[in-house]
Amino acid sequence: MSDATNDRVRWAVVGTGGIARRTVGDLRASGGAEVVAVASRSQASADAFAAEFDLAGAYGSFEELCAADGVDAVYIGTPHSTHFAYAKAALEAGKHVLCEKPLTMTADESRELGAIAARHGRFLMEAMWMAFGPAVRRTRELIAEGVIGEPRFLQAGLGYPVPADGPPRFWDASLGGGALYDMGIYTVTLAQLLFGTPTDITVRGEMRDDGVDLHETYQLDFASGASAQLVTSITFLVPPSGWIGGTQGSISLNEPLFSPRSIRVTTGRPPAPPVSETIEFPAEELGYVPMFREVNAAILAGELEHPTRPISATVEALETMERIKALLAEHRDRQSSD
Ligand SMILES: NC(=O)c1ccc[n+]([C@@H]2O[C@H](COP(=O)([O-])OP(=O)(O)OC[C@H]3O[C@@H](n4cnc5c(N)ncnc54)[C@H](OP(=O)(O)O)[C@@H]3O)[C@@H](O)[C@H]2O)c1
Repeated sequence: MSDATNDRVRWAVVGTGGIARRTVGDLRASGGAEVVAVASRSQASADAFAAEFDLAGAYGSFEELCAADGVDAVYIGTPHSTHFAYAKAALEAGKHVLCEKPLTMTADESRELGAIAARHGRFLMEAMWMAFGPAVRRTRELIAEGVIGEPRFLQAGLGYPVPADGPPRFWDASLGGGALYDMGIYTVTLAQLLFGTPTDITVRGEMRDDGVDLHETYQLDFASGASAQLVTSITFLVPPSGWIGGTQGSISLNEPLFSPRSIRVTTGRPPAPPVSETIEFPAEELGYVPMFREVNAAILAGELEHPTRPISATVEALETMERIKALLAEHRDRQSSD
């Protein structure tokens, strides 16, 4: 069992792919963190990554990392379908866990991880960096202050045509492939942050027989009367942006949706001309710093969850995504039987 020192969390990165490479710098810059090691399925990859990023520890298997002293927390950056097993093993080995989105492939698995984390007294969170970024934070504050009146509608999208020879995690059902769990998760999470859990869901799109969803539009309706129209895709481009319409104004979240550099707030009621203001947010490194900073602080304070992304919220978002995928499968099956 490991314990963070008083002033810093000693992190190990799990996986040597795209997101692991992208985030080491931000993790280092976040304050209260030391990146001490990497784990890979191969010793050669771990050694190369450790040399490139100047890390003291290089583990050629996840089991070796779990057994290691001097590592307080793991940041899991591997394909979706591997998250549950890695997070479970790390928590049981006494490590805190920050895991890339989606935390798991099912809501039940996230519930189970939450229970394991609580039992072992270890921190657990899905790395939903969008929720920690200054643009989404400020948007939620402005809405809470009533600046756009009552929020009634969200339109948001995120998607891009992933090449057929692109990363297998997008196309391989066994790795959790598809658009929704990779990119659509941001739109579902944004709707959840604004409106809560949907009562009704309508879905149209295309899903392969193996369950890999290629693209979908989904409307989420909420008990308050608010609704969200969302779209995601791995076969065509969906500009990563969104807007929220309220009874007295609107807020546009400018690209990229997961880490907007600016928002545009428009207020005013006809016949008065609308007044628009653009609010800029300086980027901290690549944008992951705010999340890492808050996770470090939470771990050092002995917290087991973070209030901005508690496990209950992750579970609810996964329940919504499971419903979307089930409805999309029904839609596919109805079409093929026609
Ligand atoms: N927050 C963001 O901005 C963001 C951006 C991109 C991706 N992500 C998330 O990060 C996760 C990883 O995405 P990525 O783009 O980094 O993927 P990737 O480039 O394909 O890399 C994943 C790494 O995971 C390791 N791995 C462990 N088990 C594996 C398995 N069974 N099959 C293949 N690789 C395995 C591999 O490293 P070793 O060979 O060293 O084991 C591989 O390099 C995903 O869950 C995704 O949702 C988040």
